[in-house]
Amino acid sequence: MTNILVLHGPNLNLLGTRQPEVYGKMTLDSINQELTKFAKQQNVDLRIQQSNHEGDLIDAIHVGRNWADGILFNPGAFTHYSYALRDAIASVALPTVEAHLSNIHAREEFRHNSVIAPVCVGQICGFGWHSYLWGLQALLQHLAKK
Ligand code: DQA
Repeated sequence: MTNILVLHGPNLNLLGTRQPEVYGKMTLDSINQELTKFAKQQNVDLRIQQSNHEGDLIDAIHVGRNWADGILFNPGAFTHYSYALRDAIASVALPTVEAHLSNIHAREEFRHNSVIAPVCVGQICGFGWHSYLWGLQALLQHLAKK
């Protein structure tokens, strides 16, 4: 059984009503349900957490070190400036895929840079909730190759 930690960062609990023109109309619960459905078909166990707090996300990554094979991570706005989250990913050395609903490179300049991406296997963005699904698929593919 492959174990994956799915982490959602700040403000993603508001999906569905938060700027739907940018992030789509799907709620976080529906996205999680879709991911869980896909994971079950693949015999993959998902543990899903959302937090608006940097320290909680760091703690979840540290705990993941003891059970997870990889991480699917949408760090929200922390993407652009959290060296602490970047260090956490680098420290646990779990293969991580960064996912974003929106195309961060086509938005405001401050969103173009990810300080997390350099410690990830890769980044997928711009495909709405499918960024998560395809990010998960990419992560599983990566783990299968190892
Ligand atoms: C986001 C992009 C970030 O720039 C933003 O701060 C978010 C959501 C996305 O999924 O598109 O909160 O991570």
